[in-house]
Amino acid sequence: MASHKLLCIFLFVLHFYSGHSELQLNYYSESCPNAEEIVKQTVITLYKEHGNTAVSWLRTLFHDCMVKSCDASILLESINGIQSEKISKRNMGMRNFKYINTIKDALESSCPMTVSCADLVALAARDGIVMLGGPHIEMKTGRKDSKESHLAIIDAMLPNHNDSMLYVLDRFQSVGIDVEGTVALLGAHSVGRVHCINLVDRLYPTADPTLDPNFAEYLKRRCPHPDPNPLAVEYSRSDLQTPMILDNMYYKNIKNNKGLLIVDQQLVSNPITSPYVDKMAADNDYFHDQFAKALLTLSENNPISEEEGEVRKDCRFVNHN
Ligand code: HEM
Ligand SMILES: *[C@@H]1O[C@H](CO)[C@@H](O)[C@H](O)[C@H]1NC(C)=O
Repeated sequence: MASHKLLCIFLFVLHFYSGHSELQLNYYSESCPNAEEIVKQTVITLYKEHGNTAVSWLRTLFHDCMVKSCDASILLESINGIQSEKISKRNMGMRNFKYINTIKDALESSCPMTVSCADLVALAARDGIVMLGGPHIEMKTGRKDSKESHLAIIDAMLPNHNDSMLYVLDRFQSVGIDVEGTVALLGAHSVGRVHCINLVDRLYPTADPTLDPNFAEYLKRRCPHPDPNPLAVEYSRSDLQTPMILDNMYYKNIKNNKGLLIVDQQLVSNPITSPYVDKMAADNDYFHDQFAKALLTLSENNPISEEEGEVRKDCRFVNHN
């Protein structure tokens, strides 16, 4: 049909000029058939040595993808005019970056200059989620790595621990994630830790009345200083019952006024989000399904084009031309 043909041409031209690269399943099936297996095996080995690496891969994906694009910009170090995103306050507490290099080295020794760091971040998060007992997520690949840091826009992109729920929902909506998806993604706080600097506002001078009083006492013992040294290793685990499992315990905890961050607490107090909290607290499979769906959307945020990006040889530095 002629009109159909015209539409196809139109879509092709649109695609050509939109400047976005197309992600696809098994993008490396010919250029590096073992890419996904190499990432997976390295993630498993690292997890066995340092379980919290899996937690880190999950947060790294969020902090990479939420800021403009999943383009591994977060991995760049400060050098040659680049100011690393790692110095941003929003990225405080992020860890295990050195093991990104371990994964990249494994990829480079099989397939030099082939697999992007942005895909590495996405695939490591996917495999880390499985190690944490979360769902398996079918993820596309084909992302390119940025040649610049997005440090200047981080504060406008990544919500803060005490932002309002309306603001948080708006930020997630801007990357195509709805209310239900936002509630599900915050379930990532079912694993890992929070440093005292992000908690003391809720503890001093008086404890936030929306916190369970016994839990507030516990947190004060974990965080005894109202004005903690940001460099001090003072923190609390997010989920005391199952700290290394990506399960719906997070929703049960926040329903019991045992959420650590103000954003966590607001999921319960806000009438727009609280019905989903109830559903996720009641059904772990439902949580996993919604989490997988929203994480996939997050992982596909705004991939940069081949012309705009590159495949970095070392995830910490842009390539020399
Ligand atoms: C409104 C949105 C969010 C805010 C304000 C937020 C904020 C935070 C803060 C303040 C911490 C503690 C950092 C520290 O003190 O070390 C944290 C930890 C963490 N966040 Fe989020 N987060 C949000 C959403 C997400 C999402 C969507 C994910 C992943 C899908 C995620 C994954 C994690 C993980 C895994 C940790 C633990 C990191 C570790 O233990 O090393 N967060 N988050
Ligand atoms: C949120 O926390 C930051 C410190 O992490 C603080 O500077 C800011 O004033 C707080 N904002 C509100 C609205 O409390």
